[in-house]
Amino acid sequence: MITLTINGQSQNIDLPADTPLLWALRDYVGLTGTKFGCGMALCGACTVHIDGEPTRACVTPISAAAGKTIVTIEAMDQDAIGKKVQEAWLSQGVPQCGYCQSGQVMSATALLKQNAHPSDADIDKAMSGNICRCGTYTRIRAAIKQAAGLAEIKS
Ligand code: FES
Ligand code: FES
Repeated sequence: MITLTINGQSQNIDLPADTPLLWALRDYVGLTGTKFGCGMALCGACTVHIDGEPTRACVTPISAAAGKTIVTIEAMDQDAIGKKVQEAWLSQGVPQCGYCQSGQVMSATALLKQNAHPSDADIDKAMSGNICRCGTYTRIRAAIKQAAGLAEIKS
């Protein structure tokens, strides 16, 4: 049994210690907002925050997440910066199919928590591990700038 702190709640997880956090989140706890894409830390669809760092849940064993603070997309509307990012995402009409978007929002929120006024290069670097097959990259950049107060708000 491993105890994880997920979105502020303590959860007892009765799974083997090497189970990927992504499986625990989706299949055990029922938090399905975090997506499975590649399973190999290549696409970013499974991004969550662990102690504030954007982390690929598909390659993180639950044993490595024990004792740390895990935050998923389901808690972003209770986070001041996460909420701003989500509002900017809607304002800019970022999502297409939507599959990659929770991971994108998690990476963008982590970026803005560490760097309130990122440059284009900062954004590219922070977001480079999040793949979008629908090609929403231009709007993602615009939304991050809007959330940072660096761009015009679209309504
Ligand atoms: S599913 Fe984790 S990085 Fe692709
Ligand atoms: S919105 Fe479809 S993969 Fe990104």
